[in-house]
Amino acid sequence: MQDILEQLEQKRAAARLGGGQKRIDAQHAKGKLTARERLEVLLDEGTFEEWDMFVEHRCTDFGMQDNKIPGDGVVTGYGMINGRLVFVYSQDFTVYGGALSETHAEKICKVMDQAMKVGAPVIGLNDSGGARIQEGVASLGGYADVFQRNVMASGVVPQISMIMGPSAGGAVYSPALTDFIFMVKDTSYMFVTGPEVVKTVTHEEVSAEELGGALTHTTKSGVADMAFENDVEALLMLRRLYNYLPLNNREKAPVRKSGDPTDRMDMSLDTLVPENPNKAYDMKELIVKTVDDGDFFELQPDYAKNILIGFARMDGQTVGIVANQPLVLAGCLDIKSSIKAARFVRFCDAFNIPVITFVDVPGFMPGTSQEYGGIIKHGAKLLYAYAECTVPKITVITRKAYGGAYDVMASKHLRGDVNFAWPNAEIAVMGAKGAVEIIFREDKGDPEKLAARESEYKARFANPFVAGARGFIDDVIQPHETRKRIARSLVMLKDKKIDNPWRKHGNMPL
Ligand code: HXC
Repeated sequence: MQDILEQLEQKRAAARLGGGQKRIDAQHAKGKLTARERLEVLLDEGTFEEWDMFVEHRCTDFGMQDNKIPGDGVVTGYGMINGRLVFVYSQDFTVYGGALSETHAEKICKVMDQAMKVGAPVIGLNDSGGARIQEGVASLGGYADVFQRNVMASGVVPQISMIMGPSAGGAVYSPALTDFIFMVKDTSYMFVTGPEVVKTVTHEEVSAEELGGALTHTTKSGVADMAFENDVEALLMLRRLYNYLPLNNREKAPVRKSGDPTDRMDMSLDTLVPENPNKAYDMKELIVKTVDDGDFFELQPDYAKNILIGFARMDGQTVGIVANQPLVLAGCLDIKSSIKAARFVRFCDAFNIPVITFVDVPGFMPGTSQEYGGIIKHGAKLLYAYAECTVPKITVITRKAYGGAYDVMASKHLRGDVNFAWPNAEIAVMGAKGAVEIIFREDKGDPEKLAARESEYKARFANPFVAGARGFIDDVIQPHETRKRIARSLVMLKDKKIDNPWRKHGNMPL
């Protein structure tokens, strides 16, 4: 018996060594942690339950039958993050470059299946050379098995991908199907085709970092949500993100009460919006001054900065924040910001997270590049997302809410539950200047008359009371009481329940 126990320990030790000390050292030399070290940082101490440590590949081509490493390049199982269940897989680059074989995929599928049965999120730590080249189509099948599960799990349990090394070719599509992607700067990259193929096909010379590094995907493509300096920072931030999320779509997010009183007033908000309507201000200041403890977990902070999205808490409850940012493009909605916010609203809706929308939007971005790029279709995504959304929706218009963008930004007409406006809000078809230039075209040569018309239009429409008179705005509130009014609304909406009509699925403009 003693022998068997010792053998088990030896087998475990061999599996834990992955591709061997030399490759572990090489991994460390690149500034990367190993698959197991990453799980140690991610999970609560001593909570990791590993599965399938002794799984080996079944490939017999290219001498692979004599080249088996227990675990087959991915560490899988479950554990806890701040005491809450999570399923994980962590690809081991020291074993065949973390390449995905048929059995490697089976291990990932097993944890995904179990996560679906018990209703818990899945986090994938990706560090892989892609399809296991020696296995050919078996590996491709393995990827597709993972993709299918990603899609089935979408909207049922949160899925998060961390890119901590290469992720190339079709391998990028599993992360792309998940809810959030984090990347590590300098050591991770994602692309469908690598720099060499790019050079052959398009004659462009581009480095892997430029083509698909963390900065590229968090500033240019919007594929990834956040970029971090190193593995440890990324994993610790992932733990923070996890705290905001429910385990599945039947649960509410965990409540973390803070000492921040819900009736806290912030008088400085009364002067946040400048007198001059063309002057910008930082919408982040309003968010930070409204939510619990000023703690705003911003997502995609470096992409489509004209809209802000992220998680925060109100009286301990997770809320999703969407806000126009007047500091960038005057807060206009364009293609990128519409897509960014639409996907976030849909995540919140799928996972029972109330959405708070702060509005200061002069409209949709004009121009050929936007029209040719399909702003009509992409703007409609945000409209669709808000209209379909059944979680509590609270909207505060801080200044401009013009035109179609007024409708889109969680207006009363899209089933906004509570719609507030600050006293200086301007809810109109467009700004006064543009409006009079159109409707009083005949006065164009007479600047004095035009100015008079402009002030007349302003007096008539540049206020929240016209919308208030129709009940499109539930109340005009003092800026300093914004937190209190939102918090009360959330209490009122705690048990909100509405259903959309039955259908197989809608046909969102994609
Ligand atoms: C098998 C692989 C592998 C792979 C790497 N290795 N990728 N083994 N299948 N896909 C092995 C290497 O042979 C090497 O083994 C070890 O992993 C480490 O790789 P290195 O090349 O030494 O590391 P590095 O210099 O850091 O380069 C990493 C890399 C490179 C950029 C990922 O290995 C690479 O380009 N690999 C091939 C990538 C690729 O073309 N994959 C297929 C993509 S197509 P030894 O024993 O020497 O240490 C795809 C389709 C999926 O994925 C479709 C899904 C629908």
